[in-house]
Amino acid sequence: MDSLEKKYEYFESRIKLAEEGSGPNRIRKQHDAGKKTARERVAELLDPGSFNEFDKLVVHRSTEFGMDKHHIPGDGVITGYGKIDGITVYVYAYDFTVFGGTLSRANADKIIKLQNMALKMGAPIIGLNDSGGARIQEGVQSLAGYAEIFYNNVRSSGVIPQITCIMGPCAGGAVYSPALNDFIIMVKDTSYMFVTGPDVVKAVTHEEVTKEQLGGASTHSSKSGVAHFVADNDEQALMLIRELVSFLPSNNMEQIPVVPTTDDPLREDEELQTLIPADPNKPYDIKDLIHVVLDDRNFLEVQPHFAKNIVVGYGRLAGQTVGIVANQPAHLAGVLDIDSSVKAARFIRFCDAFNIPLITFVDVPGFLPGLTQETNGIIKHGAKLLYAYSEATVPKIAVITRKAYGGAYCVMSSKQVGADVNYAYPTAEIAVMGPEGAVNIIHRNKFSNDKERQKLIDEYRETLANPYKAAELGYIDEIIYPRQTRTKLIQALELTSNKSQQQPPRKHGNIVL
Ligand code: HXC
Repeated sequence: MDSLEKKYEYFESRIKLAEEGSGPNRIRKQHDAGKKTARERVAELLDPGSFNEFDKLVVHRSTEFGMDKHHIPGDGVITGYGKIDGITVYVYAYDFTVFGGTLSRANADKIIKLQNMALKMGAPIIGLNDSGGARIQEGVQSLAGYAEIFYNNVRSSGVIPQITCIMGPCAGGAVYSPALNDFIIMVKDTSYMFVTGPDVVKAVTHEEVTKEQLGGASTHSSKSGVAHFVADNDEQALMLIRELVSFLPSNNMEQIPVVPTTDDPLREDEELQTLIPADPNKPYDIKDLIHVVLDDRNFLEVQPHFAKNIVVGYGRLAGQTVGIVANQPAHLAGVLDIDSSVKAARFIRFCDAFNIPLITFVDVPGFLPGLTQETNGIIKHGAKLLYAYSEATVPKIAVITRKAYGGAYCVMSSKQVGADVNYAYPTAEIAVMGPEGAVNIIHRNKFSNDKERQKLIDEYRETLANPYKAAELGYIDEIIYPRQTRTKLIQALELTSNKSQQQPPRKHGNIVL
């Protein structure tokens, strides 16, 4: 009996030691920096009491630089599994209070083990990043650990959702695991990501930049497009991850569970009848339409601050998750450019990999003209969007609300790139180009004043820039009133629910990178 008690006591002391980590001083330092500890973060992310920790007693194996005298159980990363709204997820959280959350070979092995399990069990994996990067004392062993993590990121891509939240430093090659994930969330003011920091930048290019300018949340959410979401603090970031996970399947073989809603699938919205202005050059906010149409007006926008001329994100229709892609007439008239093409292409490919039907709202004047766009490769970047739509085999439903001009008509989920159901509003204008440009080309010498030119523009709009020619040809399945949008989309989703389409057998396509 005694000996049993001793064994339990010893066990408890080992666990207590592990949970104390580097002790109260380091925890205080972490809190003073406006950050939660790894354990606090995991507890807040998961359903209460659902976390099961693996490898709590793992310690590093290095002996150089006096490291053999410093062993802290857990060694800088906490790994395990738990639940988010009852759904199993795997989590690893770098513990900055222990050796700066740096990656030792032992830490890497913990993460790799978790990645392998998540992949085998078909569950999302979430990383909470706060780390000084490769543990300098371990040299190439640490680098090898990173490389294996990257390799596993790629093996898991398209099989299980991979999400990373950057909640502290993330520098050097360490940025490439988050970059290979599906979603990156960054916390304002306390997180940054860069390949080389301000000191190296200054030495090499003589530029003086701050960490924030180089790789803060604002930079990556609005300029580089590296981050998908920004949160004000740790709490908000963790809540965001929970919300995101609620829209996703656990793996690529699973249909996403339907979330019951009291929102009427037959709801008609009179306010939509007047949303699209009669004047085709007047902007409106496509997000007003998106919110009205979705269940309970609930829309989780992805990359809201980057390439605002296209809007992407998740919502539900009759309880089913859908991916929304929409040109935004309120920003650059909804034109397609390099950033918006890449943003939407990656979003579409995620939806396609994870069985999320795509709903596209089209109002696009074309591709953005200009030297900058051409020399930076709008041809190859625009092709990514075309590729993504053409490749996607999930249900694809589109609504042309107003303009669908030129190549952008083809790209934006046209019937000819494999869309299943195509609607247009009576306000739709589908043509090779807008009336003004077209008249300038085809009637170049046929008008001598503005009045005559306007007459030709009106004539063009009546004959070509409308939805009727496309509807006569069957390129549009139905012209609908805006108020019917929600009902029609839900019916189209039902219609396509058993869609089964395969790409021809091949090792993989050669997307234009
Ligand atoms: C070993 C490290 C470390 C590292 C930090 N620490 N980074 N130990 N290897 N890379 C230790 C510190 O010595 C310190 O230990 C503790 O972690 C906390 O660090 P502080 O510097 O006190 O914290 P803070 O002032 O908040 O600064 C955090 C930091 C800074 C900005 C991350 O520590 C830093 O710049 N570290 C180096 C970052 C870096 O260059 N990493 C390599 C990137 S390249 P004590 O015991 O003194 O408290 C990379 C390659 C990946 O990661 C390659 C993949 C292919």
